[in-house]
Amino acid sequence: SPGNAAAGASVFKRCMACHAVGPDARNGVGPVLNGIVGRAAGTYPGYNYSAANKNSGLTWDEPTLTTYLHAPRKLVPGTKMTFAGLSKDQEIADVIAYLKQSQGQ
Ligand code: HEM
Repeated sequence: SPGNAAAGASVFKRCMACHAVGPDARNGVGPVLNGIVGRAAGTYPGYNYSAANKNSGLTWDEPTLTTYLHAPRKLVPGTKMTFAGLSKDQEIADVIAYLKQSQGQ
């Protein structure tokens, strides 16, 4: 099924130990994810990325984010995102739908 942003808000709770979105979001363990869908990897201002992420050459379009969220360390070897990934395609579609709503905030 297509991604459901409301369901994705619930999935995003698993990201919130390290990431924030919204108008008051600040960098933490991980970078702010406002506007992440469509952005070049490693470019959120003020965040200290690993070389692996910063120099990945990736753009976080929907297919690339889908591949990444299945297995972050497989797509970006050496990433400092210590998160194994999401196993369910629907959860990935839902969290991406949620992240798309954070564009520009
Ligand atoms: C980086 C998404 C969970 C820590 C990233 C990036 C994305 C992302 C798209 C790349 C950002 C960029 O290039 O600007 C997510 C999503 C999560 C999740 C959707 C939940 C499903 C987590 C968790 C942690 C974490 C739980 C901490 C345990 C990090 C760190 C980076 C990162 C440290 C920077 C990686 C580097 O510079 O090598 N995440 N993440 N993430 N994430 Fe996550």
